[in-house]
Amino acid sequence: MKGLILAGGKGTRLRPLTYTSAKQLVPIANKPVLFYAMETLATAGVRDIGVITGDTHAEIVAALGDGSRWDTRVTYIPQEAPLGLAHAVLTAEPFIQDSPFVMFLGDNLVKDGIGDFVGEYQREKPTSLILLSPVKHPEEFGNAEISEGRIVKLREKPKNPPTNLALVGVYLFDQTIFRAARSLKPSARGELEITEAIQKLIEDGENVRSHVITGWWKDTGKLEDVLEANQMMLENLEPALLGSISEDSAIAGKVRVEAGAQVISSTIRGPAVIGAGARLENAYVGPFTAIGERVTITHSEVEYSIVLDGASIVDLGARMENSLIGRDASVYKCNTRPRAVNLMIGDHSRVGIL
Ligand code: G1P
Repeated sequence: MKGLILAGGKGTRLRPLTYTSAKQLVPIANKPVLFYAMETLATAGVRDIGVITGDTHAEIVAALGDGSRWDTRVTYIPQEAPLGLAHAVLTAEPFIQDSPFVMFLGDNLVKDGIGDFVGEYQREKPTSLILLSPVKHPEEFGNAEISEGRIVKLREKPKNPPTNLALVGVYLFDQTIFRAARSLKPSARGELEITEAIQKLIEDGENVRSHVITGWWKDTGKLEDVLEANQMMLENLEPALLGSISEDSAIAGKVRVEAGAQVISSTIRGPAVIGAGARLENAYVGPFTAIGERVTITHSEVEYSIVLDGASIVDLGARMENSLIGRDASVYKCNTRPRAVNLMIGDHSRVGIL
């Protein structure tokens, strides 16, 4: 069994972060979401992994290296343009050859892993096994109709979905998927859709089965989902106070302060993680917050947020929450006269002011 992780794509719903960085490398509880995918595959016994890359190829390669950190072997497969998931599958054909393979979208998090899913495929050997999950907004995903475990109809993001079953971005295929993908025409969004390729397998009478997960799953494609994923993963945090913490600071709940971080006259309420070399002074860091490496937080309160490496938050007059702050960004109180908000904001940024 081989693995295929998709780490290309544009990540438009996470701009402006994705102008300079891959969406698969957004940190969740201070670990790139892509690392969770590697762990999930390795834990399921999948060791030979192809990684599809796009514009952010160099950054993905720098992050994953040769894959030995997860006891896996990684082969990089550049995709010429983000022309769809089925196009990515076709690009990977020389790597996959005639092996069955599990395809995993690199921005997806499946909390309880895919061991059962891979085990079922190996036992039953259907043509394809598709991971599904009941969701609140099925119109935002590929949608499945099933009958006795068999998938009877798939539609990509239908306006009026007939069921609440979404396609999680995890699929098991054998080589029949290549023939189906080759028969596709680009969809309305200009992509070769994997959903349509699987629908073709169904129409050809192949045995396409479903595996419904009950555990937590998230596609971290947009801000709200990134923050929710961060909340979920921080719950599993291994607490440790490795940095320096002044006596007048207060730490409560599950908190991890990495080596070299300084916490001075501050309060941290977990679950929260503070990255190496960060400095908190007269600060409050609240639950479900991940603070990256070398971040400065002074005279400010931050809760339910993610702050990336090197950013600084200084003298905020209000509490910041529901926020994702990019690398080396700075948020500070403006002391100019006349009193005014001063902004320099990247394209597609969002700023909510009081
Ligand atoms: C893709 C698939 C969709 C699936 C989703 C899961 O959508 O096309 O069927 O439900 O991933 O994350 P995209 O994120 O490309 O819009």
